[in-house]
Amino acid sequence: MSITLPELPYLKNALAPYISSETLDFHHGKHHSTYVTNLNKLIAGTELENATLEEIIKKTVNDASKSGVFNNAAQIWNHTFYWQSMKAEGGGMPRGAIAEKIDADFGSYDNFVEQLKNAGLTQFGSGWAWLVLNNNKLEIMKTANADTPIAHGLQALLTVDVWEHAYYLDYQNGRGTYLDAFFNNLINWDFVNANLA
Ligand SMILES: [Fe+2]
Repeated sequence: MSITLPELPYLKNALAPYISSETLDFHHGKHHSTYVTNLNKLIAGTELENATLEEIIKKTVNDASKSGVFNNAAQIWNHTFYWQSMKAEGGGMPRGAIAEKIDADFGSYDNFVEQLKNAGLTQFGSGWAWLVLNNNKLEIMKTANADTPIAHGLQALLTVDVWEHAYYLDYQNGRGTYLDAFFNNLINWDFVNANLA
């Protein structure tokens, strides 16, 4: 069994103009794809060869000698989760159970946006900003490089990739403008609600 690259859950031009098809060409077709190729090379013939992605992540997170395996596996998981975190004509105010939970745990949608945006802006260098569930409470989290909440026993609900490769072609160094587009036009609240359920 080898790990495969999942298809994007929408057409390459579906998120334009907020994320261009050119960005998705590189980001899914080159970056995400390369993590899959690298991981399969690293686990071939090892005890991890038949493990699931989640198992590989959890078994290698605390093993410095397996950092290459962990980084590639976690990046595959993170990117697959990120594609699903967005949709065409997404973003704006949440609906359903997540809307009530955001009000309960953050006080307001605006406060949630401020905290998640701040996590994305202050992640120095490459990484991710997350909405996670910790002991049934919503929390904002940021992770460096490939690190991922599932390696730490937390349930991910939503993520935004703040590696430069996620936004540089469309926004150059404008990480904040990219994050604004994520909130206003891209978040897939149906996916967040499904994760919460
Ligand atoms: Fe990425």
